[in-house]
Amino acid sequence: MWQANVFTIFPMAFPGTLGVSLIGKALEQQRWRLNLIDLKQFPVKSDRIDDKPYGGGAGMVLSPEVFAKAFDTLTPEQQNLRRIYFSPRGRQFTQQDLKNISETNGITILCGRYEGVDQRIIDYYQLEEVSIGDFVLMGGEVAAMAIIEGCVRLLPQVVGNSESIADDSFQGQLLESDIYTQPACFRGMTVPSVLQSGHHERISRFRLEQSQMLTRKLRPDLWGKYVEKQLRQAKD
Ligand code: ADE
Repeated sequence: MWQANVFTIFPMAFPGTLGVSLIGKALEQQRWRLNLIDLKQFPVKSDRIDDKPYGGGAGMVLSPEVFAKAFDTLTPEQQNLRRIYFSPRGRQFTQQDLKNISETNGITILCGRYEGVDQRIIDYYQLEEVSIGDFVLMGGEVAAMAIIEGCVRLLPQVVGNSESIADDSFQGQLLESDIYTQPACFRGMTVPSVLQSGHHERISRFRLEQSQMLTRKLRPDLWGKYVEKQLRQAKD
């Protein structure tokens, strides 16, 4: 079973959004597993899990001995999963990273807090430093939830309609087209007539063209990659 092992000082923050909707139902039905490890349960000298930074500076730093004790409670299989430490210093994760992880047996995550964690934790345990964007959070918990949610929804039998995943933005390098529901006219704004036509081929073409137009306008970086891929495929 796919599993997420999460080291945190705030286990009560979980499952959070991972406990609702399809992901929460799949958790209840044991189609994936969330294993929370409370770092506060592994104190070292005089009941502490953190200490002041060498050389001075603000905040407290998670002790490597605390993490070592906590990490030792994992099975060898859990220890060998991809190991991630969330930090704004890290490489930004992409949909491809989530897809790769969803195709393995799971992920092991250390959520940082305070000023950070002792560098030797990252070096010794070879944690990959990963960011979810160029902004700073208080800690890794929200980032962990985002990444786990993104992985779990890719697991077979978690999101019912696999077509809705195939249509995802990024999965195919293009942004999703606009979607509408009833009523056909809202405050003078009408749903594009082609979407009301019931003509599947024209609808598909309209959606593809709109995806291309939106991607070119909103994400020129993705558009460049898409065009490159199309050219490569045309050559092969
Ligand atoms: N922790 C603090 N800021 C973060 C970010 N931007 N991404 C991932 N983890 C973080």
